[in-house]
Amino acid sequence: MELLTPSPELLDGYLDAVRRGWPGDRVLFGSTSALLALADSQPGAVLARLADRSPDGVRFFADGTTAPALPALFRWMWDGQFVGNIDLRWPSTGGTLPDDVPGHIGYGTVEWMRGRGYATRALALMLVLARQEGMAEVELVTDVGNLASQRVVERNGGVLVEEFTKPDRIGGGAAYRWRIDLR
Ligand SMILES: CC(C)(COP(=O)(O)OP(=O)(O)OC[C@H]1O[C@@H](n2cnc3c(N)ncnc32)[C@H](O)[C@@H]1OP(=O)(O)O)[C@@H](O)C(=O)NCCC(=O)NCCS
Repeated sequence: MELLTPSPELLDGYLDAVRRGWPGDRVLFGSTSALLALADSQPGAVLARLADRSPDGVRFFADGTTAPALPALFRWMWDGQFVGNIDLRWPSTGGTLPDDVPGHIGYGTVEWMRGRGYATRALALMLVLARQEGMAEVELVTDVGNLASQRVVERNGGVLVEEFTKPDRIGGGAAYRWRIDLR
């Protein structure tokens, strides 16, 4: 498995996964149907939204509100086909992340490829990119009930910092904050 930058050659594989039911990048596009509609009319706009560091656009929340996008690196987990996504994001003004961003790194593996080590490997590869970006540490957030994601973080050296309650606009509920030291 490798992490690939979204590109025109890979776009169909990504959209196939979305059509198969992968929820995709709801935060970036608002909904699966909005993403597929945009891909039909302006495929370049989908890729533009996934361009490195591009702070264009907004983040969509489930409650219908939005917030400015953050600079980020978007990568697709690829193993002969689209396997999942992972992104690294950071505040455009430096300092700490807004509380409506669940950590510096987010990831998801399509349901039909889970349990094969893809997310664990993807996080390891993304940590290399985070180091290259000059980050000294990254923060990750997992739901308290998300044992698989907690395992992914632990296998990559994550240290539990605290339990906290997520803001309602990102779903609320009990979550763990983790830190991975990159120094
Ligand atoms: C969390 C998620 C990314 C894991 O992806 P994955 O590619 O299946 O993960 P991996 O195969 O690398 O590893 C999962 C680890 O969790 C373990 N695991 C899987 N399901 C588990 C469960 N229900 N309970 C406990 N551990 C579990 C696996 O055994 C593995 O641990 P191991 O390496 O010690 O054997 C995937 O389930 C997913 O996309 N979930 C929805 C989105 C999400 O929750 N993203 C993370 C937000 S923080």
